[in-house]
Amino acid sequence: MTLGRAAHESTPAPRRTRGIPSEPLGEAVREASAVLAAGGLAALPTETVYGLCADARSAEAVARLYAAKGRPASNPLIVHVADLEAARAVADLGPAGEALAARFWPGPLTLVALRRADSGIAEAASAGGPTIAVRVPAAPLLRAVAAEVGPLVAPSANRSGRVSATTASAVYEELEGRIDLVIDGGPSPIGVESTVVDVTGAPRILRPGAISADAVAAVAGPLAEAPRSRGPLRSPGLLASHYAPRARLRLDVPAASVAPAEAWLALGTETSAAPPERTFRLSETGDLAEAARRLYAGLRALDATGAAVIAVSPIPAEGIGAAIRDRLARAAAPRPEPADPA
Ligand code: TXA
Ligand code: MG
Repeated sequence: MTLGRAAHESTPAPRRTRGIPSEPLGEAVREASAVLAAGGLAALPTETVYGLCADARSAEAVARLYAAKGRPASNPLIVHVADLEAARAVADLGPAGEALAARFWPGPLTLVALRRADSGIAEAASAGGPTIAVRVPAAPLLRAVAAEVGPLVAPSANRSGRVSATTASAVYEELEGRIDLVIDGGPSPIGVESTVVDVTGAPRILRPGAISADAVAAVAGPLAEAPRSRGPLRSPGLLASHYAPRARLRLDVPAASVAPAEAWLALGTETSAAPPERTFRLSETGDLAEAARRLYAGLRALDATGAAVIAVSPIPAEGIGAAIRDRLARAAAPRPEPADPA
């Protein structure tokens, strides 16, 4: 599938990537704000995954961000704002969006809504479309920086198509030399990206996340079905290969069917033919919130063993398990070309 001209066709200028801790908070806010106000790129921790931030009102900064990630220009970004009022200045949330915002913001919820004509957001952030994705994150640092600098685009801090980063060191692995600053706030507390809900019509889940479909429906009413096809402007990341390690993934594999040459992403305490050094346990107690927190670190660790195949335990689809299954399915999806980072 072609998503349009890939921004990675133009290589970004090399830059020195600095790292600082997220505490003391005031200092981290000052450093990040200075970088972002100058049009630079800074990776910041959020409650879901690390986000690569740029000033959403600067076309140059947004273009730089697409280039640093190697992200196709047709895949729009989420605008992160400090509060509900700032979200309303960017998008017309509508009744369902207002209700969801009141219940779940600040938090791991992204609303896709009609973009306001006077939003001031760079066109490229919404890939030239009539809608815009907006989120008020719970992470105090990102919210404070957005209050200081204004709306920030913040996609996950990974190269396009690859596994998201849930630690500062994973951000370095992905983006060192391509961005200006990484702020280390420790491991991400949720571990998978926000739930994306399209509220331009009957509410519809575009990407499952920590907030379950049932929780969304309880507030917004019955949900429309997710689109079956990968409509370019609905949510380009939805069905394409994404969140992908180098190794091939084999999903829903019972412990007894894991082969000795495979790496194993396990849930629970069962044993398999995979050697211990190629086994990563998402949660020994089968706790899905813990499994979500450890998912991307597990994929990265098993990928680093050099195994050609990662076998994955069956993950129940309940609660945040639906988001884990969604990411695994996309990580397992056929890739356009083995070396294509998009
Ligand atoms: O938790 C998160 O949402 C993280 C943290 C950093 O906030 N961000 C994140 O951004 O996951 P990103 O860019 O990796 O994923 C954004 C998703 C993509 O699948 C994109 O296609 C979709 O949201 N999206 C953005 N704008 C959209 C729009 N206007 N219509 C439909 N889908 C949209
Ligand atoms: Mg992403």
